[in-house]
Amino acid sequence: MALDDTAREWLQERFGKEICFDEPMARHTSLRVGGPAEAFFAPANPIALIAMIDWCRHWNVPYQIIGGGTNLLVTDAGIEGVVISLGRAFNRIAIEKRAADSVTVSALAGAKTGTLCSFALKEGLAGMNFALGVYGTIGGAIMMNAGTRYGEISEVLAAVTFLGTQSQTCRVARAQLDYRYRSLTLQTGSGVDIARPPVVIGGTFQLKPAKQADLQAEADRILTERKQNQPTQLPSAGCFFKNPSSENPAGRLIDQAGLKGLRHGDAEISDRHANFIVNRGKATAGDIFFLMDQCRTEVKARFNIELEPEIKIVGRKTNT
Ligand code: EPU
Repeated sequence: MALDDTAREWLQERFGKEICFDEPMARHTSLRVGGPAEAFFAPANPIALIAMIDWCRHWNVPYQIIGGGTNLLVTDAGIEGVVISLGRAFNRIAIEKRAADSVTVSALAGAKTGTLCSFALKEGLAGMNFALGVYGTIGGAIMMNAGTRYGEISEVLAAVTFLGTQSQTCRVARAQLDYRYRSLTLQTGSGVDIARPPVVIGGTFQLKPAKQADLQAEADRILTERKQNQPTQLPSAGCFFKNPSSENPAGRLIDQAGLKGLRHGDAEISDRHANFIVNRGKATAGDIFFLMDQCRTEVKARFNIELEPEIKIVGRKTNT
């Protein structure tokens, strides 16, 4: 336990309704699994966020930032320390600058990626359609370089604002960010505290004016395709594994290993798209881990390919 009674009392007094304790993470993850967070914090404003981060740093209490809880697998034993959810007070999206051939849009970390896509569509701005149907928040998308077959967030990013080592805001230009497939590596010297989970405040995006009817037609096509190919009606964390390569997408490998439809408890490898593990009701994180291991073992045995999770796994390791 990272939080004793004294710490809990202090936090309750300082943060009031913004904080609760022993909060089941199953309520906050799209997979609908996960044990309790010792403390769950939804700051009402940036001042509260900074106060909490400073407190955690000072007392050496672990903290985790969760975006929409969409790309996340929380263990059944739950999370030690403070889980911070930015959704509530960090969801502004606005046009910052308009030029003839480019428009700069800013979005705070708690805004949903889908909301930024809709905003761009409404404003007639090209560049975000690739992310239509991608779950999660802008903060999460920035940290994991969220993407699809049609593009990834790093391709439209101009800059990211982090909370720095001294809780100052710290703007880092895209050129300074080391983005790879579904990953961002932060360097020492960037001003961001890389010894702790980085806190993204928001990002700016470079989009291009385009014909709205064309954008809408493209959007309709992408969303229809997604509905047809993916189990969008059931709780999941989106694609579970990274694609080892474009020739060997994880979904095809798991499918060819004959694992589609495999169930453990209420967890199932989707029979619509094999790179989705869905929760058919009361699945536990343990059930999901079982299927994850099956996929990795079978794909390794048949194709000698290592599958690496795209989802982020957090929480205590025991009882999973
Ligand atoms: N395939 C199978 N069996 C399956 C699933 C897929 O044979 O059960 C085959 C498909 O027929 C296709 C190939 O595998 O030939 C690739 O599948 P798909 O077109 O569905 O794309 P993907 O690589 O599996 C990627 C992203 C998705 C995104 C789609 C569409 C990754 C890991 N996944 O999926 O992103 O929605 O393209 O753009 O990059 C996500 O990140 O959460 C996500 C779902």
